[in-house]
Amino acid sequence: MASITIRNLDGAIKEKLRLRAAAHGRSMEEEVRLVLGELGDPLPSPSWGGTERSDGEGSFLTLHKDPSLLLRSLPPHEGEGKGSALSGRRILLIIGAGIAAYKCLDLIRRLRERGAQVRPVLTKAAEEFVTPLAVGALAADKVFTELFSREDEHDVGHIRLSREADLIVVAPATADLMAKMATGLANDLASAILLATDKRVLIAPAMNPRMWGHPATKRNRAMLEKDGIRFVGPNKGEMAESGESGDGRMAEPLEIVGAIEKLLDRSPKPLTGKTIVMTSGPTHEPIDPVRYIANRSSGKQGHAIAAALARLGATVRLVSGPVTIPDPEDVAVIHVSTAREMRDAVEQLLPADAAIMVAAVADWRTANEAGEKIKKKPGEKAPVLQMIENPDILAGVGHSKSRPRLVIGFAAETQDLLANAQRKLDKKGADWIVANDVSHATGVMGGDRNAVRIVTRSGVEEWPDMSKEKVAERLAAKIAAALQTVEV
Ligand SMILES: Cc1cc2nc3c(=O)[nH]c(=O)nc-3n(C[C@H](O)[C@H](O)[C@H](O)COP(=O)(O)O)c2cc1C
Repeated sequence: MASITIRNLDGAIKEKLRLRAAAHGRSMEEEVRLVLGELGDPLPSPSWGGTERSDGEGSFLTLHKDPSLLLRSLPPHEGEGKGSALSGRRILLIIGAGIAAYKCLDLIRRLRERGAQVRPVLTKAAEEFVTPLAVGALAADKVFTELFSREDEHDVGHIRLSREADLIVVAPATADLMAKMATGLANDLASAILLATDKRVLIAPAMNPRMWGHPATKRNRAMLEKDGIRFVGPNKGEMAESGESGDGRMAEPLEIVGAIEKLLDRSPKPLTGKTIVMTSGPTHEPIDPVRYIANRSSGKQGHAIAAALARLGATVRLVSGPVTIPDPEDVAVIHVSTAREMRDAVEQLLPADAAIMVAAVADWRTANEAGEKIKKKPGEKAPVLQMIENPDILAGVGHSKSRPRLVIGFAAETQDLLANAQRKLDKKGADWIVANDVSHATGVMGGDRNAVRIVTRSGVEEWPDMSKEKVAERLAAKIAAALQTVEV
């Protein structure tokens, strides 16, 4: 029987214990007791014969069994395994000058627990909130603060700092840093890195709700989203300032870790390597320079499908009509207005593995778009609009020489849903038609829920009423399964 003490344990066991204990906020001894308890053999117990004592340098526990048993039996600590996406990944963490900067200490710890390397950069003002000493100790790395540091520029330099990372994270992202990023300023180390980088950037904004709701911050946010900057949070909640609450609280460290893991996840996905062309939203068909014919499509369903496909690893190219919702994450979006523009954009994007035509494309447009605003003149009759047919984008794709393997159309109907969908399947050369009842009472157009039927040549699947996100997820999974088979 071996006799061991925790302090003499093998480094790997001790490290694993330390990480588990840190993750749970427990002492090493408590962690060992818990692990053994989980194994149904709590300490001290006669079978393990453990004893506990203190030698003045902190208490420690003596076990009387093969220590490798402990290593083998240690269950993963929170985040271990799950966080393997971060193992060995390099994260440049820019800490801005907000009250929430203190949470970065925990963020660094959580990232390192998951095997990430964290290289911290503090803005000058952030040093008022956390010390480089604490940040550097937790990151086990040098803390960079100065743009004009002869030593650092010679050694690493802001360009190398910005490139030698797998991801740049800004947390907390102050209103000031967001403004600098949106306008392309580079007058300190943090902003120079952010302008010089070719890596993805994730920001965790944190500020007073009035700062977050200010039109200037809203403009900056929209600009940054357009530039492809990813956001995590902010959340709604209590501010550090007493009595204040609202939107602007920084996302919690574990939420930020989750967002980082998602961005750095390299595991192959079911649609990795597949290209999918999509349309979404309405079209606007001009009558004159100020008037147009539109429909009630919000783009919510199409955009949700695009995002769900991207999450499964597809390269999604979305042609969107005019909508008021943001572009879906990880999707390349082309914004168009008319059916003809949408058709041209879709044609440019073929060939692809699949085409999913969700947009509510106007069937007709005015034959003669007036060059000037049509004026109301006393005594004159109301103008009569002459209409002509718009291009049929779905049929064009379904019968195209570069037809994708899988062509899916949407049928928004208010009557004879299934009969119309089945007719559309043949006429348009589609493989599936996703049919939905858009009668006023259903609230589907512009709403958040949908009840669809998937009409294929082999039958009809009726899906229950669910959120548009759920429809999107389920459809994306079905598409992934179909594209994995040889024949659709
Ligand atoms: C006590 C205190 C708390 C602050 N908290 C925040 C905050 O949470 N978010 C923010 O955007 N700015 C906050 N500020 C203002 C920023 O510190 C200030 O705009 C600073 O110049 C930002 O510097 P940086 O963006 O270079 O880090 C705070 C200022 C003080 C004095």
